[in-house]
Amino acid sequence: MEKKFYELSHKERIDALILEGYPKEALDLISKPSDVSELEKTIENVIGVGTLPIGIIKDFVMNKKKYLVPMMIEEPSVVAAANKASKLLLPDGFIAESLGNEMIGECLIKVEDSKKAEKLAIKNMEKIDKKGKELSSSLEKYGGGWRGLEFRPFKSERGDYLVCYFYVNVADAMGANRVNSVAEELGPFIADLTDGMPIMGILSNLAVRRIVGAKAIWKKEKIGKEGVDGVLEAFNFASNDIFRLCTNNKGIMNGIDAVALATGNDWRAVEAGLHTYSMMNKKPLVSYREENGDLVGVFEGPLAVAITGGATKTFNHSKASLALLNVSSAVELAQVMACVGLANNFAALFALSTEGIQKGHMRLHSRNIAIQAGAKSPEEIDFVASELVREGKYDTEKARKALDDFRKL
Ligand code: MEV
Repeated sequence: MEKKFYELSHKERIDALILEGYPKEALDLISKPSDVSELEKTIENVIGVGTLPIGIIKDFVMNKKKYLVPMMIEEPSVVAAANKASKLLLPDGFIAESLGNEMIGECLIKVEDSKKAEKLAIKNMEKIDKKGKELSSSLEKYGGGWRGLEFRPFKSERGDYLVCYFYVNVADAMGANRVNSVAEELGPFIADLTDGMPIMGILSNLAVRRIVGAKAIWKKEKIGKEGVDGVLEAFNFASNDIFRLCTNNKGIMNGIDAVALATGNDWRAVEAGLHTYSMMNKKPLVSYREENGDLVGVFEGPLAVAITGGATKTFNHSKASLALLNVSSAVELAQVMACVGLANNFAALFALSTEGIQKGHMRLHSRNIAIQAGAKSPEEIDFVASELVREGKYDTEKARKALDDFRKL
């Protein structure tokens, strides 16, 4: 009988993907972590390079296009869960759309009287707008650039302030450097016009002008009425209990972060934006409802990611992941991430509300325990892992004993 993809060795998987037509160059590159010598200048005080495994989602369809989705993560069962949830949707797959691609920048100005300063700023709106346009003009050749501004006065214990929010379409970049440069120059310019003092300028990671929506319908015939009801119960729990909401969202981030890491994106920015968005709306990042007996899942949240700039082309794995993903814009990448987050959330809620997740999780974790106990070859790892599962005991002592037995065979 033909082996399933997950049963193949690493080399067999690469060969199978080449046979399916995925680019060989990217598949070769993804198996070779960048060398420390290439990364010496990327951050400060470099002394080494870490590695994480990259797994893939194979049966992933979004907006009728098939993708190979790389996920970089240390936790077993996340990749399996994303694959399971995505496969259940075939042939239709996920649907995703985006609101736009504008980053928000903020300048803070300390003023005598915030209301007066706001009036002055509005009076000088045209000048400020022109300056902002000039400062972000380098993005125009990529289809991006300045998209306007707004003011918010506020009073506080430390005095009066004026905040200027400005919007910049950052095309396929994450936009942090460009927006921060604009913010730092625009602040003093606005301060001059409003008789204020510039305090600071920085982008906001709450990228509400980069909202992505993703939707999937898990059919009752595939997940059963028990599955539909179970996920709805779990969703209701997360909607009514903040301790559960946190863990629920963590499961969503399992998928989103793994794709962000694989593609060299700033996953901390993504995390910050999504958690704040969830808190702002006081609800989980994914919602569920029942429609004609089927389960409809909808993700909604900000995703400021890039396919160019930052570290997207610095690491072998990020270059290769982007090549394998074959997305043509940052928006498309953000949509893929949203769907993966949705997939992981569905898989977690389904497992939690039906069989519980520990059984499957420990089955996969048993391979890690086998490696910790010293198993080296795929045969040793398989044997030790299956012994742990058979006995239902997951400790290194048991694993070492199983490994000794295997080596004596
Ligand atoms: C574990 O990494 C993620 C879960 O805890 C998510 C959840 O509880 O929904 C399983």
